[in-house]
Amino acid sequence: MKIAQTIPQARAICPAFRAEGQRLGLVPTMGALHEGHLSLVRAARDETDAVVVSIFVNPTQFGPNEDFAKYPRNFDRDCELLEREGVAVVFAPSAEEMYGKGSATWVEVEGLSERLCGKSRPGHFRGVATVVAKLFQIIQPDTAFFGQKDAAQAAIIRRMVRDLNIPVGIEVCPIVRDPDGLALSSRNAYLTPEERKSALALYRALKRAEGLFGGGERDTTALISAATKELSGEPGVRLDYFEIVDPDTLDPQPTINRKVLVAVAGFVGKTRLIDNILLEP
Ligand code: PAJ
Repeated sequence: MKIAQTIPQARAICPAFRAEGQRLGLVPTMGALHEGHLSLVRAARDETDAVVVSIFVNPTQFGPNEDFAKYPRNFDRDCELLEREGVAVVFAPSAEEMYGKGSATWVEVEGLSERLCGKSRPGHFRGVATVVAKLFQIIQPDTAFFGQKDAAQAAIIRRMVRDLNIPVGIEVCPIVRDPDGLALSSRNAYLTPEERKSALALYRALKRAEGLFGGGERDTTALISAATKELSGEPGVRLDYFEIVDPDTLDPQPTINRKVLVAVAGFVGKTRLIDNILLEP
């Protein structure tokens, strides 16, 4: 496994695979890898010939009062895991390498960037879209792999490649959960055992909406009200949003007559967690 820490190193290594006729897959991450990340690596390995994983805690997608400084970092362990998965290249640049002095260009996917997490994390999706566009320019993968866990992020990246004619295929892989239902997240490492128990209420709320939907309920106001009631029974969770939206436009839907994204975000102590499910009539 090769490790590139600078853009010129990545540019020297990555195009060689494509020149040999190999399809290149990219899995962008911020490290602190778990089985969710590894599921993307395995999908990339199945569908492409050589896998590049980027590890970069991207400062521009964190707000001033967010957890950039304390975000979990474990580069050596991450590399061990990736080596075992047969990854060809790890791209792990520094912030200075990625954002040269005077960097002034941003990618903003208007509208979508203000929805869901974009409402309570202004600038977050601008940082995500910009860094992913840069990674696509540097690595030039055939296909890039993202998780459904960050459903709004996936919608924004899909729209970005369409709008900017970026020739990269986007694959979105299912959410990996712990056996009790908690969606894996690097941020779960912040949770105390008690908080972890409280965090399960997010998934319970989604399942409550899913159950009612299964019983025939199509009115999203009714589904949201039942789900938020479920959440209000868990004092350890402070709800940020519970929304039912179109999975591509992220526009709220009054009734469910086609596939929708049911998305939730909440604070458990100081930790902000997100989760979602898809429902289809
Ligand atoms: P990060 O949170 O490290 O996640 C990297 C990728 O792993 C994302 O596509 C995310 O959706 C996926 N992922 C996380 N938890 C998952 C789970 N439980 N099941 C399946 N996939 C999961 O998302 C980011 O980093 C950043 O915003 C990034 C795209 C790297 C840009 O900086």
